[in-house]
Amino acid sequence: MYNIKPISNIKKGIAVPPDKSISHRAIILSSLSNGSTRIEPFLKSDDTLRTLDCMERLGITANLKEESLTIVGAGLKLKPKKMPVVLFAGQSGTTMRILSGTLCCQRFPVLFEASALLERRPMERLVLPLQKMGAKIKGTIRQDITGSGEKIYPPLFIEPAEEIRGGEFELPIASAQVKSALMLAALYAKQDTIITEPYQSRDHTERMLKIFGGDIKTGNNKKIICKPVEKLISPKELFVPGDFSSAAFFIVLGLILEKSELTIKSVNINPTRIGLLNVLKRMGADITIKNKQNNYEPYADITVKSSHLRATIVEPFEIPLMIDEVPVLCIASAFAKGTTEIRGIKELRVKETDRIRSIMENLDKVGVRIHDSRHDNDTKLVIEGGKDYTPASTDNPFESNSDHRTAMSLIVFAKALKGVSSIDNILCIDKSFPQFISLIESLS
Ligand code: S3P
Repeated sequence: MYNIKPISNIKKGIAVPPDKSISHRAIILSSLSNGSTRIEPFLKSDDTLRTLDCMERLGITANLKEESLTIVGAGLKLKPKKMPVVLFAGQSGTTMRILSGTLCCQRFPVLFEASALLERRPMERLVLPLQKMGAKIKGTIRQDITGSGEKIYPPLFIEPAEEIRGGEFELPIASAQVKSALMLAALYAKQDTIITEPYQSRDHTERMLKIFGGDIKTGNNKKIICKPVEKLISPKELFVPGDFSSAAFFIVLGLILEKSELTIKSVNINPTRIGLLNVLKRMGADITIKNKQNNYEPYADITVKSSHLRATIVEPFEIPLMIDEVPVLCIASAFAKGTTEIRGIKELRVKETDRIRSIMENLDKVGVRIHDSRHDNDTKLVIEGGKDYTPASTDNPFESNSDHRTAMSLIVFAKALKGVSSIDNILCIDKSFPQFISLIESLS
């Protein structure tokens, strides 16, 4: 059990850890390239260390230091240290999904295992398009968690493919993980691969592949054209900016606390990640972006000041641009004047936990009026803003459901209440942001 004391009047400059999505991709592409790549700063968290462990088993050499990671790549054809190859993704969906794209193109079979939480997350979206490309990948067939028939889940079984074909692929779901897996498989394909998404999702793989010498064309029509390549070439050095998804907790905190101002330094402001900023600005948030830098990923300092937020309507096309920030947007909405609707969020049911159910149950506990309902074949959340909520006591604490983003969102919420709240399990935060508790407590 962890007790959360309220705070107010904060005025500080802080830094958040390096981006998780970019760190995963940096490990994978450095490993698949020829040459040595120094990734600095590097995010040391449960999820990224899973990706690193998998790549080490697949034959790369890594030198992990306090702030940096240096990888000596093995090239596109990996050479595992030990056969048979058994990999463990732990709870990291990004590790399992993105890495599968390249594993399908290797000369050895792989058994890809997951922890209990990831074993409940759907793999159909990944396995079916990869099979269409010629990959020999299978999952484990089990009853769908929502009760809608049999679906494909981890563990995954991958055999060497006779041939990886390119072709045109229209993804039914906007998923950067699936898109990235196809882009990695496309490197080994016989023909070009064209991928179209229903809505734009984060484009870190596209950006990073370009600096590793990949032949990728992107337009603004959600279409990506990937050409096969002989090899990837290391850019030698890779800078990883701060994680916007981690900054999001402090952005919302600075807005909902009274008499406060927070600056978060060197945060990634890739337009495919900062949907939350646009929504919050629409809600009347006082947010300024300064010291903008442009590398292969843009980054800047973000300053937020206490604001009187107003309700808004978030439309489905905005969701992939803020997919991990919906729980913390619910917290901001609980402090906004009026009724906020967040539409097109059914994907949240298959994250680390069913985030719709989890955020509703937790906020309902302390008096927030929140409910979900059907909307255009999808789900929406409706939140009535207010101000006077009772803290979550030790006998009825917040429950993280072992989900890092739920836990951090609830801690931000509790910091703005009058009185001490409790939350059951915060170990899950190590998945993406091991320094979160010390950072938020340092603001008091
Ligand atoms: C991620 C993509 C998103 C996101 C996840 C990280 C990535 O998942 O929720 O935290 O790094 O590509 P989906 O691809 O399932 O939307």
